[in-house]
Amino acid sequence: MTELRQLLPPKMYTDPAWFERERRELFDQSWTFACTEAELNNAGDFHSFRFLDHSLFVVRTSSGELRAFHNICRHRGCEVLEGTGNTGEVIVCPYHRWAYRLDGRLRALPFEEEAFGHVDRASHGLVEASVGVYRGLVFVNPELAPRDRFDDWIANMDDHAWPHRFNDDSLAFAGEITYEMRCNWKIFYENAIDGYHLGYLHDKTLGTVYPDRNVWDLVGRNHVRYSTERNGERRSNTLLSVDSADGIGAPRLHGDNEATYPGVVMLFPLTILSPSPWGFYVSLLQPIDAERTNMRTMSWAPGGTGGRFKFGERSKPVRLDDLDGHPLDSGNFQIEDMWIVEKIQRNLRSPKFAVGPLAVGDGAETPIGQFQEQLLEFVPL
Ligand code: FES
Ligand SMILES: [Fe+2]
Repeated sequence: MTELRQLLPPKMYTDPAWFERERRELFDQSWTFACTEAELNNAGDFHSFRFLDHSLFVVRTSSGELRAFHNICRHRGCEVLEGTGNTGEVIVCPYHRWAYRLDGRLRALPFEEEAFGHVDRASHGLVEASVGVYRGLVFVNPELAPRDRFDDWIANMDDHAWPHRFNDDSLAFAGEITYEMRCNWKIFYENAIDGYHLGYLHDKTLGTVYPDRNVWDLVGRNHVRYSTERNGERRSNTLLSVDSADGIGAPRLHGDNEATYPGVVMLFPLTILSPSPWGFYVSLLQPIDAERTNMRTMSWAPGGTGGRFKFGERSKPVRLDDLDGHPLDSGNFQIEDMWIVEKIQRNLRSPKFAVGPLAVGDGAETPIGQFQEQLLEFVPL
């Protein structure tokens, strides 16, 4: 059997200088989820958001296409749009009212002749980012020509797609939670694609999903997970989570057939999709610095069960310190994971820290090796 070894030195998980390299060499040209297409039905509909250092928005133009721009006024850099809504035919900066067309071109500005003589329209448009849509989910990349074009990044995903739709009322936004974790983003990512820990750390929450009872497929740069507990048949959820959700009477999506779609899709490097019979989750990793990572998890539930929440509405952050009991008694696999990733992060600075052999197997730790190879493509040692 080929040996599987850790490729990244501990320093890559603690050093601010490495983090800065990842920011510039990877994140600055990474795709991130922005919103669903349903938020952007009409001309002028926009959604603005932050992605690490970037302030961005996506807008439906008068010709019906989606465009993404940096939310930075070309006068003195104020954010031009706020939140989600409809901006009409123009985007007007609130500071001195420079006005832009929906395609980003500068249209007009107050006191132009008196104060400036003339401002060149062509060289003062909003800086464009790139946008891609997949199954009603809108993704944005801060770069107009990123290393991975959208179609390449999400290539071949159709073989692993989910039945959930975002263009009718079968799904309703059901809220958002932020988890605040004291760990490097890669510790979290590696834990998320580690099939070896599932049946042990999560035996009470996910069940006895040993390495031969789940599989992670590498699809381009992304990883796609299936439970294979039912005689190897590929299913989205583990037997125990199906029993628990159905047991508490969680409403299933109309027409859902769990047999044919994955339960977790890790979109390298910072986006996680989780389709299930009871809804759809999108989690966004937000690396804060080398040793802190937030994760925003947005959820959609069968239409009719949501409706109380507005897209973008935040809830109180979840931190381990605020928990009442022990994380292992939480009944929540996410809390169990938070507990572990912080336990690893605390050890990374010890001179005695070292990673031993990794467990070979697509339902074990092989995906961690694949992730590390990809990272090194962007940020070589
Ligand atoms: S900063 Fe936008 S108009 Fe001045
Ligand atoms: Fe886990």
